[in-house]
Amino acid sequence: MLLAAGFFQFSAPALGWVVVLTAAVALGLGVLAWSQGLRARRLRGLVAEQEHVRRILDSALDAVIAIDAEGRIIEWNNQAERMFGWKRAEILGQRLSSTIIPPRYREQHERGLRLYLTTGRGEVLNRRVEFTALRRDGSEFPVELSIAPVSWEGKTTFTAFVRDISERRESEKQLEQSLSLLQATLESTADGILVVDNAGKIVSYNRKFLDMWRIPDVVIAARDDNLALSYVLDQLKDPEQFLAKVRELYADPEAESYDILEFKDGRVFERYSQPQRLGGRTIGRVWSFRDVTQRKEAAEALRRSEESYRQLFERATYGIYRSTLDGRLVTVNPALVRMLGYDSAEELLAIDMARDLYLDPAERARLIERYRTSGVIEDVEVAWKRKDGKPVVVRLSGTALRDESGEVTGFEMIVEDVTERRALEEQLRQAQKMESIGQLTGGIAHDFNNLLTVILANAEMIGRNLPPEASDLRADLEELRGAAQRGASMVKKLLAFSRRDELRFAPVNLAQLAAELMGMLRRLVPASIELRLLGQDCEACVMADRGAIEQILVNLVTNARDAMPEGGVLTIETVETYLDEEFRSDHGWGEPGPYVILSVSDTGTGMDQKTKERVFEPFFTTKPPGAGTGLGLAMTYGLVKHHRGFIEILSEPKAGTTVRIYLPKVTEEAVEPHPKISSVSETGGRETILLVEDDPAVRRAAVRVLEKQGYTVIVAADGIEALDLFDRHADRIDLVLSDVVMPRMGGRSLYEALKKKDRMPRFMFTSGYTAGEIKERGSLPPEVPFLQKPWTVTDLVRSVREVLDRH
Ligand SMILES: Nc1ncnc2c1ncn2[C@@H]1O[C@H](COP(=O)(O)OP(=O)(O)OP(=O)(O)O)[C@@H](O)[C@H]1O
Ligand SMILES: [Mg+2]
Repeated sequence: MLLAAGFFQFSAPALGWVVVLTAAVALGLGVLAWSQGLRARRLRGLVAEQEHVRRILDSALDAVIAIDAEGRIIEWNNQAERMFGWKRAEILGQRLSSTIIPPRYREQHERGLRLYLTTGRGEVLNRRVEFTALRRDGSEFPVELSIAPVSWEGKTTFTAFVRDISERRESEKQLEQSLSLLQATLESTADGILVVDNAGKIVSYNRKFLDMWRIPDVVIAARDDNLALSYVLDQLKDPEQFLAKVRELYADPEAESYDILEFKDGRVFERYSQPQRLGGRTIGRVWSFRDVTQRKEAAEALRRSEESYRQLFERATYGIYRSTLDGRLVTVNPALVRMLGYDSAEELLAIDMARDLYLDPAERARLIERYRTSGVIEDVEVAWKRKDGKPVVVRLSGTALRDESGEVTGFEMIVEDVTERRALEEQLRQAQKMESIGQLTGGIAHDFNNLLTVILANAEMIGRNLPPEASDLRADLEELRGAAQRGASMVKKLLAFSRRDELRFAPVNLAQLAAELMGMLRRLVPASIELRLLGQDCEACVMADRGAIEQILVNLVTNARDAMPEGGVLTIETVETYLDEEFRSDHGWGEPGPYVILSVSDTGTGMDQKTKERVFEPFFTTKPPGAGTGLGLAMTYGLVKHHRGFIEILSEPKAGTTVRIYLPKVTEEAVEPHPKISSVSETGGRETILLVEDDPAVRRAAVRVLEKQGYTVIVAADGIEALDLFDRHADRIDLVLSDVVMPRMGGRSLYEALKKKDRMPRFMFTSGYTAGEIKERGSLPPEVPFLQKPWTVTDLVRSVREVLDRH
């Protein structure tokens, strides 16, 4: 178009538009002119020739226009009429510049025409140029034209062949548009694209490609393929592999391939390479690259986070599971498998939850009902069982899983095994209960002891002074004494329960002790009961008070006897065992270590759960009034605790009972029991006794008994007073009989103080045992004789004589 405009600007002045016939026509006319035929024939012929030429011109598809040197139109063919909308008759003689040249080019056209005519120069003559033409209706359109000057009969004319190129322009425009669209598309893809020809030469690429590969513009502009390739290779982690691939693909133009490229700087590209085909021919290769670093990183991050969640799941100490609504486990973690004692996750996954997991299969359904609506399960305790059937208490927390419609499809739960904690709590609760009952009973028992001592001593004194004929009174007195003695034995049990009695610990071989006691125990049971003793070969020793063990055995054997009114088998057994952590977690008690178990089993009535829970409570009994006081097991419990042991009751209704006493095993050898007051003589004496006793009634009773036996008695109300009296009468005092707990100074301190004196008299303790005392010291020196309160006159008289007679 510009070119065309240029033609008219610079060359048009040289053009005189002339009506011209074509070169052929010109030639034809020449020939005609030169022919010297008949004039008429010539004329006729001339007209015919002109007509012929006219037709030839009109048959042309191009507009054929001629102008004379003035720029007037002298020829205008049919096609020109159609093209410009001017009739031949109308336009002939008109100036070209005022008809078909757009006004803006007219001036230049005129100039160009003039220039040619004066100089003979015309830049656009004799070649095809494009320019803009004007239709009669004022519309413009693109044309291609060729202009040639024709000299005819001394005049210059110009012939133009004009072709409407509107359509061509339109399709060119479309092509151009689609090409730029293609380019724009190429530029807007997410991929870097490189197109090479079959020889590997770069044909095209997009900006993205350059950016992704960080190829400087200068490198690509150089179109130096090797330089570009070296740029590419430098960045790769494994350039050799990439190069090999490139070679392989160039060797096989039809191959398609894909792989992942890793960069030294951590980026990751996906690479595709496809043959580029045109009309069924492979003309090159298209490489496309996509930066997937972020995607890879995201995938890697996801993988890492999944891995860490998986580890959390795998390593959790809590059990974790996912289950379906109908009670199938879908996922379980190793902790759950362990907790429930299964061999593998597969094994656990195969179970039916309600049937194999819940102790009460209906409980699962109840739970689901309860949590269906809320969907959140928080710290719900349920009773499950392990693979081996052992019960476990678990605490469940989690949520319900729902489908799109909101229906519950399953559950996701965390499981905590709280069996041990619950058992420990139960133990603690039990211990606290016992402790408070113990405090209560202990306080009362001590006061009772002194009362009973007074009653017993006085009853006996009265008895001794009664004339032989007062037999009725004597019987009443016996009644009184009997009752007081029963009271005393109850108090003793209460004190044992509250652990306020005095125990003297020494290594004891339990099996041997049980054997020694068999004679006594046998007398407790009727012939209908078979008494068996097992575990005689057990040589293990425990730290124990022999008397306490004896009392324990008496209690247990009595209970077993009472449980077998129809007879049965009563077994006493000693066995060594080791309590480990597992035992403790199963039972909720049991300091790990070696133990000796003393067990008493019967084949009697057994106990239900409710009874079992209360048996250690003082005064709990199921026996009819008068038959049982409910103190046997309370006392046993207290004694066992005092020995740092444990007591376990295994019992089911109608299935008999086994009571196991666990006492910590020691390595020391059993020692002979400390001296016991064994003298049977009830004779008095002339010696002087220092009686140290804070309770005035007890003191009075003792003084009366002893003086009656001929002894001289000096009394003191506490240790301080006793020391003072001793200092004054040291050489006279043969025996110090001292209570243990007294205000200011107790018996033990008195004993220690006296030991430091030049002369140590014989010494004997007597006590009602109190809590304070137990706190004050461990145990009394075992070598010192001990008289337990409440004592009877006989007890007192015998022990005093015995101690005085000791060498
Ligand atoms: N071997 C056993 N078989 C069945 N039940 C038992 C057995 N041992 C104890 N019991 C139950 O435990 C209760 C409490 O026992 P405990 O020895 O403490 O008191 P008691 O035997 O009733 O009375 P006490 O021992 O003071 O004479 C009993 O009443 C009985 O119900
Ligand atoms: Mg009993």
